[in-house]
Amino acid sequence: MAIISTAGLARTFRSKAGPVEAVRGIDLTVRAGEILGFLGPNGAGKTTTLRMLTTLLPPTGGAATVAGHDLLRDPAGVRRACGYVAQSGGVDPNISVREELVTQGRLYRLTKPQAALRARELTNDLGLHGLLDRKTSTLSGGQRRRLDIAMGLMHRPEVLFLDEPTTGLDPGSRADLWDLVRRIRADHGTTVFLTTHYLDEADALADRLVIVDKGVIVADGTPADLKSRYAGGPDAPLQDAFLAITGRSAAPQDSAPVAV
Ligand SMILES: Nc1ncnc2c1ncn2[C@@H]1O[C@H](COP(=O)(O)OP(=O)(O)OP(=O)(O)O)[C@@H](O)[C@H]1O
Ligand SMILES: [Mg+2]
Repeated sequence: MAIISTAGLARTFRSKAGPVEAVRGIDLTVRAGEILGFLGPNGAGKTTTLRMLTTLLPPTGGAATVAGHDLLRDPAGVRRACGYVAQSGGVDPNISVREELVTQGRLYRLTKPQAALRARELTNDLGLHGLLDRKTSTLSGGQRRRLDIAMGLMHRPEVLFLDEPTTGLDPGSRADLWDLVRRIRADHGTTVFLTTHYLDEADALADRLVIVDKGVIVADGTPADLKSRYAGGPDAPLQDAFLAITGRSAAPQDSAPVAV
């Protein structure tokens, strides 16, 4: 069953220097329970796509449904179904971890006791126990990122959008986050739509990869498919496939000696 389906989804930004076609027509179907890695070079249109699918940014073209709700006709339904962890979290530094989580839960209509319970569960799950009463401004980068993820999970969304969730995390915390994503999917059937620039992460975690470049999809398949098709075999490094797909050669660039 498709939980996300888009047709010609597009976004052009107006800027003083002229229009920027950030997303130029994305046709995509995501199955319920899939872990989808949405990859692409800087500026490819990943964050713009996530912001449209979570109703934070209106499309300038195309259509989409998320968890059965039409993006344009029922944005409130889409919002209820989605959790979104932005590329850079914007949070009030003066409140505590607990207050931040409870406020987020209340926004999604949890009662106060439900929100408080959920905040305790998630901080335990995400290795943030003992930090509930800390001001968010005192958290380390990795703790901050885990709090962002807890925020996205407060209302048990059907679809979780994670924009570069592990940037800045230490290797142990990254591995914990992979486990968490797998557990959320296994326990709740949650669909996970994630972007990352760590190709080892995409390879290990995603069932399927969609690669975008300059606002369009340029490849779609399982990690093994893409490596076989673009890098010579299912055991090749995903980076080789990624570089071939996005037209950046993996071979060393023109290696003329440099005069020193
Ligand atoms: N508000 C805006 N106004 C003008 N241009 C924008 C705006 N937001 C994004 N863009 C442009 O749209 C393009 C796509 O940006 P987007 O943030 O979606 O890329 P991305 O794939 O998430 O990149 P990264 O890997 O660097 O996070 C970029 O060229 C960016 O400069
Ligand atoms: Mg981005």
